[in-house]
Amino acid sequence: MGVEHAVGLSSGTAALHLALVSWGVGPGDVVPVSTFTFAATVNAIRYVGATPYFVDCLEETGNMNPALLEQALTGLKSEGASVPAIVPVDMLGKCVDYDAISAIAESAGARLLCDAAESFGATYRGRLAGAFGDASVISFNGNKIMTTSGGGMLLTNDGDLAAHVRKLSTQAREPVPHYEHTEIGYNYRLSNILAALGRAQLRRLDDMVKRRRQWRERYREALAGQPGVEILGGAADAEDNCWLTAILVDPALSPWSAGDLGAALGAAGIETRPVWKPMHLQPTCAGFAGSLDGSSERLFAHGLTLPSGSALADEAFDRVIAEIKEVTD
Ligand SMILES: Cc1ncc(COP(=O)(O)O)c(C=O)c1O
Repeated sequence: MGVEHAVGLSSGTAALHLALVSWGVGPGDVVPVSTFTFAATVNAIRYVGATPYFVDCLEETGNMNPALLEQALTGLKSEGASVPAIVPVDMLGKCVDYDAISAIAESAGARLLCDAAESFGATYRGRLAGAFGDASVISFNGNKIMTTSGGGMLLTNDGDLAAHVRKLSTQAREPVPHYEHTEIGYNYRLSNILAALGRAQLRRLDDMVKRRRQWRERYREALAGQPGVEILGGAADAEDNCWLTAILVDPALSPWSAGDLGAALGAAGIETRPVWKPMHLQPTCAGFAGSLDGSSERLFAHGLTLPSGSALADEAFDRVIAEIKEVTD
């Protein structure tokens, strides 16, 4: 991965949680976080009692907008808020603009915890996702490219952080013969059996990414020339892992909507799903502030994730494309 330390854990969520615990993030702290993400990213901030501050995304990629992060930090600084960490998310397998986000975090004196749960196998300027920030988190959940059915990993160059997270994940037992505990621990270890599964999966990672990229190309080809239809992440996707292909359908330009396509595919027994509902719209997050410009709300309104699994057979994928053509042609 290009980092010195990796700690296998029971989930990506556990990795996010323990990094924040180890850094002492807690009540009274504010943590700027991508609003366009899965709930787990924000839940980890809530577990430690800190306050999430939602930062909207770039509409082309769904990734944290550096200008809005800067705006957030300026506002929070003027309020005298304590901002110990920032959590950006690599959306659907495309890395955040790490050059920009890292520089902003550094000048704000905040640690960067990179949620690379979806981007394992992707790169940013040639470096693997998971190798950025003060720590990164990857997920081996069942729906990810490489899975251990459930699992995750913390990646960092900080040896003290890795050692502390490893200790916290194994009930925080002190290194003495009897059971001695000076801090509250967690049962977050990755079991040996699941780790073995992961080692076997890892050997197939490149092939699985290739397969997902093949689906991405076929969607691009099938939807070329459709007015108002774009692939989330844009054309520059050579470094993405193509975990999920999602499309955006502009209702002002397209005769069919994302919802129409989802319904037609659903009727044919093909599963699709809207993209993430922004966290600032979630009932669990009512009342939390953010730097928001409507981008994630537009993505949620007009986005649709399409079948992207690396285990899909060619014939199954041909059927997906044929059903899409029924709607688009
Ligand atoms: C962006 C993001 N963060 C965190 C997670 C949580 O990972 P895990 O399911 O391994 O806890 C996921 C997916 O599950 C995710 O998509």
